[in-house]
Amino acid sequence: MIELVAVGRRYGDRIAVEDVSLQVAPGELVALVGASGSGKTTTLKMVNRLIEPTTGIVRVAGRDVSGVSGPALRRGIGYCFQQIGLFPHLSVAENVGVVPSLLGWDATRIRRRVADLLSWLELPAELGPRAPAELSGGQQQRVGIARALAGEPDVLLMDEPFGALDPITRETLQQRFQEIRRELGITTLFVTHDMVEALRLADRIAVLDHGRLVQIDAPQRLLRAPATDVVVQLLATPRRQAAALEPLLAGRA
Ligand SMILES: Nc1ncnc2c1ncn2[C@@H]1O[C@H](COP(=O)(O)OP(=O)(O)OP(=O)(O)O)[C@@H](O)[C@H]1O
Ligand SMILES: [Mg+2]
Repeated sequence: MIELVAVGRRYGDRIAVEDVSLQVAPGELVALVGASGSGKTTTLKMVNRLIEPTTGIVRVAGRDVSGVSGPALRRGIGYCFQQIGLFPHLSVAENVGVVPSLLGWDATRIRRRVADLLSWLELPAELGPRAPAELSGGQQQRVGIARALAGEPDVLLMDEPFGALDPITRETLQQRFQEIRRELGITTLFVTHDMVEALRLADRIAVLDHGRLVQIDAPQRLLRAPATDVVVQLLATPRRQAAALEPLLAGRA
């Protein structure tokens, strides 16, 4: 369970996030959506103390995170972020195995876990010994996802994890990710600017606008009863895209 209580973050006079309260229930996936600069990444990073809130309380599994050291906290929380941040001097396999090593797993268990994750993310085993710089952007992104899942976390933070992937790989991985997440009951806060992705993956969608939470609801409820114009606008894009495709699919264009 992730819990934010009246959380805010300022940079000088500028407000990045203000008075955000939300809960992600055990096993639930909440998607954070909103325009660029609306505070999604800042909100996510306050959960594992990569950014410190200026106001409010963050709890993970009932514990106020301000009382837990950043590194200890991040060993128990899987995360992958927009700028992928793989360790350049470690191989792909070593990158994926970082958290299991820190958790003291034995070498055989780590090797097996890394192999499973690479195969699960459709990364050929021969990429394991390579340096991250020798991979494509989409491959690096998948290594980032594998690394986030490696320590079998109960809680996962993801920032645009599927952003750099081609549409087919993206759909396959969304499906795989959803299966593994449901199977393991991983509590997930998931940032995306792709409304279709949010509608497909999320149990509930949280909409940020200029740092404030304007609505948090199940996808169907969001579609039926958008709370503000911003929510209407965010939903307009997938609707427009679907409408634009319709005549083409019907062979009328
Ligand atoms: N270190 C910083 N110093 C000053 N302002 C910052 C800093 N980090 C973020 N901000 C500001 O806080 C606001 C929220 O930024 P944030 O990165 O959370 O947005 P976002 O919703 O993730 O956007 P995007 O979709 O573009 O990734 C922005 O206005 C940004 O300019
Ligand atoms: Mg961001």
